[in-house]
Amino acid sequence: MDEGFWEERWRENRIGFHEPEANALLVDHWDRLDIAPDAPVFVPLCGKSLDLDWLLARGHAVTGVEFNRMAVAEVFARLGLTPAVTKAGPLECFTAGALRLYVGDAFALTAAMLGPVAAIYDRAALIALPPETRPRYARHLMEVTGTAPQLLVTMAYDQSQTNGPPFSVPAEEVTRHYGARYDMALLTTRPLGGPVALRAGGGEEQVRLLHPRVA
Ligand SMILES: C[S@@+](CC[C@H](N)C(=O)[O-])C[C@H]1O[C@@H](n2cnc3c(N)ncnc32)[C@H](O)[C@@H]1O
Repeated sequence: MDEGFWEERWRENRIGFHEPEANALLVDHWDRLDIAPDAPVFVPLCGKSLDLDWLLARGHAVTGVEFNRMAVAEVFARLGLTPAVTKAGPLECFTAGALRLYVGDAFALTAAMLGPVAAIYDRAALIALPPETRPRYARHLMEVTGTAPQLLVTMAYDQSQTNGPPFSVPAEEVTRHYGARYDMALLTTRPLGGPVALRAGGGEEQVRLLHPRVA
């Protein structure tokens, strides 16, 4: 699941993960993070998600990172914003108003580029990555955000029935990545729909709230 894999998915418009409106689980559960309306939030592996627009409309300063440059440009265009585009090490940074999207590899993003993060919204990011990459992703996310609170949307299904992405990341694996540094609460689950559920014979989406452990 390297950059080439995702570029091909975008080029061929095989982006079944992209939703036509803000994710209902985000809308229903975002307030559980209990952060200030204008607090800065980070959306890793953001695609061109309308969740970005929803978070902006709530008043947040929103930073994302995404491989696909056209997807990033599309977000600004649909918001009617003309971004300033600058180099940021190996990444490019598109900025306009309260929206800042980095184009390039999320693993090249640093804490200094990101600045303060009050909360992370991970939908289809952890589960987009193969098993061997997920531990590194979780460590990197905690490192660059100072273990910021998270709203984490994952899915769990029988991985032996079909391949990812999206991958099944069951509760015990979420605990493996984050359990040492976060207190975690399962907020809700809902039955998995779409082609993955058909291939896997069911499954569920899971929404968790992660709060950094007080040492
Ligand atoms: C499954 S999609 C989810 C997109 C978005 N979160 C959403 O809900 O629509 C995963 C996205 O992550 C991007 N991606 C995967 N690995 C990445 C990486 N290492 N750095 C930056 N973007 C990455 C892909 O291009 C793809 O757009």
